[in-house]
Amino acid sequence: MSQRKKLLAGNWKMNKTSADAGALVREITAAAGQRTDVDIVVCPPFTALESAGKMLDGSAVRLGAQNLHPEKNGAFTGEISADMLRALFVSHVILGHSERRTLFAESDAFINLKVLAALKHQLRPIFCVGETLAEREAGATLRVVQTQVERGLVGVAKEQATEVAVAYEPVWAIGTGKVATKEQAQEVHAFIRSLLTKHFGDAVAQKIRILYGGSMKPSNAPELLAQPDIDGGLIGGASLEARSFVELVTAAAAAK
Ligand code: 13P
Repeated sequence: MSQRKKLLAGNWKMNKTSADAGALVREITAAAGQRTDVDIVVCPPFTALESAGKMLDGSAVRLGAQNLHPEKNGAFTGEISADMLRALFVSHVILGHSERRTLFAESDAFINLKVLAALKHQLRPIFCVGETLAEREAGATLRVVQTQVERGLVGVAKEQATEVAVAYEPVWAIGTGKVATKEQAQEVHAFIRSLLTKHFGDAVAQKIRILYGGSMKPSNAPELLAQPDIDGGLIGGASLEARSFVELVTAAAAAK
């Protein structure tokens, strides 16, 4: 049995007003708020962090943000710092999501600064990597993922590495309904763990959770979550409704 507790994170992306977020969190905590057999994180947009956080009070569900800026404060119009997130009791932060990499031109080096800033401020990065369809078809999947992992984690100390969760999200599977097969996902997850082993040593690498993301749903989650190196999920669409998200939590608990 894996020594890693499963982690299920909902990435709400640019969905839900503050009021909608409060309502969704209320439903999630009513159904799964006291579960401790799976780590659960919800990541609303910045504007809903405060209302969602209030609703999470007293539950085991943790609060995540979807981004941060690496600087502490200053003239960065439209940006949010780690300190600001900490003040709202945020514990996790999604970094390097493919939508940020492609739509907002975030480089590996910039994402690396964010990872380091998050760790410095006791925020746990959910650090995303993944190849595009063209890269997969060109046989470049492992090379692309290796570059993203190595560049994104430069300077992360061995002692802090277990705070990081890596999320493997093949870009072609995000929001498309096309899910990676369990073999495709396991291959890349095992490869990521081998990179982590090279970088941080086996004992640390065995503790780092590697999440799968990309059209994960209650129907396909059990077989993905049963793979030896798949330690949870980063869920987009299916995290926007309590019923499907809670079903995924149940699937993660059963896959231990
Ligand atoms: P979907 O679950 O909607 O495919 O999104 C995955 C994702 O991007 C999570 O970060």
